[in-house]
Amino acid sequence: MRKYAIILAAGKGTRMKTELPKCAYPLLKKPMIAYIIENIQLSHVADEIIVVVGHKREVIQEILGDQVRYALQTEQLGTGHAVMVCESLIQDLDGHTMILPGDMPLVDTKTIEHAFLEHITQQHDLTVLTTKIEDPTGYGRIIRNEQGVLESIIEHHEATPIQKEVNEVNTGVYIVNNRLLFEALKKIDNNNSKKEYYLTDIIAILKHQQQKLGTYFVKESFKTMGVNDLYTLSIAEAKLRHVINKQLMISGVAMINPDTITIGQNVIIEENVVIHPNTYITGNSIIKKGAQIGPNTEIHESIIGERVVCRHSIVMNSVVHEDSTVGPFAHLREGANIGAHNRIGNYVEVKKSSTGANTKASHLAYIGDATVGHNVNFGCGSITVNYDGVNKYQTMIGNDVFIGCNANLIAPIVIGDNSFIAAGSTLNKNVPNDALAIARAYQVNKENYVRNLNGKKKDNK
Ligand code: UD1
Ligand code: CA
Repeated sequence: MRKYAIILAAGKGTRMKTELPKCAYPLLKKPMIAYIIENIQLSHVADEIIVVVGHKREVIQEILGDQVRYALQTEQLGTGHAVMVCESLIQDLDGHTMILPGDMPLVDTKTIEHAFLEHITQQHDLTVLTTKIEDPTGYGRIIRNEQGVLESIIEHHEATPIQKEVNEVNTGVYIVNNRLLFEALKKIDNNNSKKEYYLTDIIAILKHQQQKLGTYFVKESFKTMGVNDLYTLSIAEAKLRHVINKQLMISGVAMINPDTITIGQNVIIEENVVIHPNTYITGNSIIKKGAQIGPNTEIHESIIGERVVCRHSIVMNSVVHEDSTVGPFAHLREGANIGAHNRIGNYVEVKKSSTGANTKASHLAYIGDATVGHNVNFGCGSITVNYDGVNKYQTMIGNDVFIGCNANLIAPIVIGDNSFIAAGSTLNKNVPNDALAIARAYQVNKENYVRNLNGKKKDNK
């Protein structure tokens, strides 16, 4: 038996009132659709994943690439229609398909696995995942007969006032026998208030045919919440933040005011790390033992070494080795590789550059496109002049170099080991090892100049 998963992601997400197609909208800086695909892959309930795309499909396809197959729904005529367009991709009609909406980022692998197992062991033709929520507005209602047997799903817009009272709702996740699914879909119509082909109509059709229907109840309803607007997005994000932070704190990560701390789902944080308020750590970042991060810090796709202290700073696609300090107000912009025991201090920006151990740029420096050795000191205001308005050039700095304040190193340039750059120098020639380089106008003191000048002033009696 072949197992399929169909993810519905063709909708515009009109209620989001934004440009981005809804399922591409990020939650903790990761697109919603990526969560569900990852969880389906991890739970092994599908041999093949099909994503239904339509509105701005290139955005969704850019996110997911070729790890899934795509079915194109050119017009968004409803969830039932969205599944219909997958028919030609489902080869094994004796197999089963799990259908999930792309706007349900919090569902976890356990729920997916258990529901699928229940469907198979109970030999259901269709299983619907249901949950109970206090305010079921907007959700399809689960309608059961007096014996509690599932009869149909009635959409919010079609429900009678009494049906609207029902707080058991359709999560939008189903597992269905393929043959029955596509037969039933041929029977649905769009005679409803939204003029859409509702996938939910197949429940009553299969019930009428006396097929074996079942439900799988999800106790923690937040896991199956659908994100339809920016408000529900913020609720989902808060839930996810809470779940991730709780897990991290239990595993030995200290968080000061955790409600203000946002950690992405794929971030790894080792024990004995302290995270201070207003901090974001996202992407595939790794924070190693004993590091202290924040407050007010943003780290994305970066590796932070053991015992690093990083305060009030931004670190993007960079690596910081052990025992270094970053900030306050430093910017490791892109491709910075900071050696061990470095100090990257106030208002220092580093881009596409590496530094050896014990190097320091304590204040107001720009280090771009540079390879820097160990034990180098960048004075306040020193700059690698890497750009002539057209091209970028490399700076090579050896070991044990002292760069005085306000030095401009015009690249391409090589600064030899153990050299000394005088403050205020603008260098455009290489500096040999052990040399002092000085490139600035000599100072001239004109004795008594001001006194004489004052004597000549008219109003000076
Ligand atoms: C749907 C269910 C509702 C359930 C709720 C759970 C239907 C008719 N209703 O309502 O019973 O309680 O989910 O969250 O199924 N989509 C397409 N093509 C379309 C229409 C939608 O791909 O033509 C996709 C959307 O991109 C979205 C998913 O299907 O990812 C669900 O659509 P949405 O409009 O959010 O359905 P709900 O109104 O939330
Ligand atoms: Ca929805």
